[in-house]
Amino acid sequence: MSNNSAIGTESFATEAKVEVSKKLRWAIIGCGGISETHLRAIEKIPEIEVVGGCDIKPERLELMRSKYGFTKTYIEWDEMLKELKPDVVDVCTPNGLHKPAVIAALNAGCHAITEKPMAMDPAECQEMIDAAIINNRKLCCGFQMRYHPACDMFMRAREAGDIGDIMFVKCRALRRRGIPNWGVFGQKELQGGGPMIDIGVHIIESAHYCMGAPRPIAASGNCWTFMGDRPSEVVSSWPNWDYKTYTVEDLAVGQVRFDNGAIMQIESSFCNHIESDIHTFDIVGTKGGFSFKDATIYTDHAGTMLNSKAAFLPSTDFGALFIAKFKNFADAILQGTPMRSPGEAGLAVQKIIDGIYRATAAGKEVSID
Ligand SMILES: NC(=O)c1ccc[n+]([C@@H]2O[C@H](COP(=O)([O-])OP(=O)(O)OC[C@H]3O[C@@H](n4cnc5c(N)ncnc54)[C@H](O)[C@@H]3O)[C@@H](O)[C@H]2O)c1
Repeated sequence: MSNNSAIGTESFATEAKVEVSKKLRWAIIGCGGISETHLRAIEKIPEIEVVGGCDIKPERLELMRSKYGFTKTYIEWDEMLKELKPDVVDVCTPNGLHKPAVIAALNAGCHAITEKPMAMDPAECQEMIDAAIINNRKLCCGFQMRYHPACDMFMRAREAGDIGDIMFVKCRALRRRGIPNWGVFGQKELQGGGPMIDIGVHIIESAHYCMGAPRPIAASGNCWTFMGDRPSEVVSSWPNWDYKTYTVEDLAVGQVRFDNGAIMQIESSFCNHIESDIHTFDIVGTKGGFSFKDATIYTDHAGTMLNSKAAFLPSTDFGALFIAKFKNFADAILQGTPMRSPGEAGLAVQKIIDGIYRATAAGKEVSID
């Protein structure tokens, strides 16, 4: 993530521990890069106890044992589910495995949380939601950006009537040169797409949440690949990505219409000829506007146009957002409190992304069911 955004950087020096009687037995499928962020956040949540993990790479399982003290590690998730019988399964695999791993966990009687994006397409998301309903288990889409204090600030202003009706939202998740040089992020068949589904999803989910989750009805857009699928000698922070297996877009631009008349524009890139990276959204309402990046609300008051910045916001670091999302899910399971990001939220966001990809393929606006 870029440091020039309100998204912030990772640290975990937050939140005092409280004692709880029941601990959720939590297991991880996919012990790669992001699972370590999960583990550092979970350490701060007394309601959760990590009981094991599964990965197809023995070296990742060795790291889980040596660095995080795992005593139970598995190559096959079915074996892990059968032996460990966890309360919760946390899916951190590449996108194409979110659906089968989540459904296996739900069918084994576990609650499930999956990394973003929820799946490859809306049909997969619906299958996951159906499996949660049939098994009477909770399903959480692991979006963390909606827990950002700037989103809370906006929601308070919106509820107070300072924003009015939201007409237009502009989402930007743009890297100048940031093609991941690890994992399978350049492979469409394993990930479902490139920057739109991988980093655009963060901005879309938080903006859509702030809009009050209106129903998307139509999408238009286009995607371009002009850099990622060929070698580059340009100096950059993530050089030497695997251009030979790169089948996703470099840049995606889309526009989505909602049932309430609002419009969302989205720009997302892994690489792009722009001044610098930016990860933000801007909202325009009939009474006020908002910039996520600057955590600023724009209104008129007593004959003056005002730009209102918060004098204080709680921690905006990456780790704090993960703590907040896992705590919300643990509370939903243990106390029946509402989930801020249930499977249905993942499905709505997936419909937006999928609409833009379908419109690109069709070369015209497409409707969203
Ligand atoms: N929320 C966030 O901010 C955030 C940040 C980064 C990544 N992610 C998401 O997390 C997921 C993983 O990303 P990553 O960066 O950790 O990738 P990664 O490649 O580092 O890790 C994925 C892991 O899954 C393992 N895996 C593959 N097939 C498996 C299988 N059949 N069974 C068990 N494990 C298997 C791989 O061996 C690898 O260790 C992606 O969906 C990505 O979009 C989310």
